[in-house]
Amino acid sequence: MGKSYIVTSFKGGVGKTTLSANLAMSLARRGHRVVAVDCDLESRCLDIVLGLENATLFNLCDCIKGTCTIDNAIVRDTRCENLYFISAPAFYPERHEIGMTADSFSKEAITALVKELTNRFDYVIFDLPARPDNLYRNLAQLVDAALVISLHTAASIRAAEKTAIALNELTGYGKDNLTAGGLDIRLIVNGFKPKDAKDGVNVGLYDIISKTKMQLWGVVPFSISMSKGQEMGKLAYELYRGTTPFCKAVENIATRCEGYKVPLFDGVDTGVKKKQVF
Ligand SMILES: Nc1ncnc2c1ncn2[C@@H]1O[C@H](COP(=O)(O)OP(=O)(O)OP(=O)(O)O)[C@@H](O)[C@H]1O
Ligand SMILES: [Mg+2]
Repeated sequence: MGKSYIVTSFKGGVGKTTLSANLAMSLARRGHRVVAVDCDLESRCLDIVLGLENATLFNLCDCIKGTCTIDNAIVRDTRCENLYFISAPAFYPERHEIGMTADSFSKEAITALVKELTNRFDYVIFDLPARPDNLYRNLAQLVDAALVISLHTAASIRAAEKTAIALNELTGYGKDNLTAGGLDIRLIVNGFKPKDAKDGVNVGLYDIISKTKMQLWGVVPFSISMSKGQEMGKLAYELYRGTTPFCKAVENIATRCEGYKVPLFDGVDTGVKKKQVF
């Protein structure tokens, strides 16, 4: 039985899709069978970030509604044979007319999808939209863990906290109990700029940890090269032979997903001198 993750935050543009794609590839390159699923029905873009634009004929909505089989909707990556992808629909709003909205999906159909994917893959990564819909709420109750993504800005940290509270409420735990639930909730700080943390321009890592009380699962640095590569349909490992700090950070998250321990700030410039911390 594979492990399933939702990648989430109620804040837009914090890197959910970027981390879904790069984490999926990292796990696949480590030998696991991985499927990345674009659940952003209103505004898909995991296909672009994965460099698999136009590679799909059927999509997630077709699967859930039973218009096609999962095999029809799954696309295999051309760079890594262990990586697979299921797209969100291209023209979702038009599907309102034919009952293809997330609110029309039954819990049974979504449960069956998750069950089949976790039976067939070692890791299933659901890239979620910032705005929760019925698909979001159902997935939250079905997966093993949530990776909550935040920048180190006050607004996105607040959104991460709200996301964690909502996830806890959805999965049956109170808002004061962010770590003990059936759903493992982990925080990933993305787009981290050590200098800005050091200068007090953005929130520092230790402040984020003490404020959110969520378990930190990774710190991913800001990377211009990754962002530029993304525009060309390239993932981070394809740039600079995968030696960038961004890649190292994603590798560390993949290692933690595998259940191995990695020192929290391995390879991370926290922007804080050790003597200031202790
Ligand atoms: N670590 C990073 N360094 C630099 N740029 C980044 C980083 N992570 C993400 N970005 C950039 O931020 C932008 C938004 O990223 P992304 O689309 O992954 O966010 P999202 O949370 O999925 O957004 P949405 O809520 O719209 O789905 C993209 O241009 C991406 O290249
Ligand atoms: Mg996204």
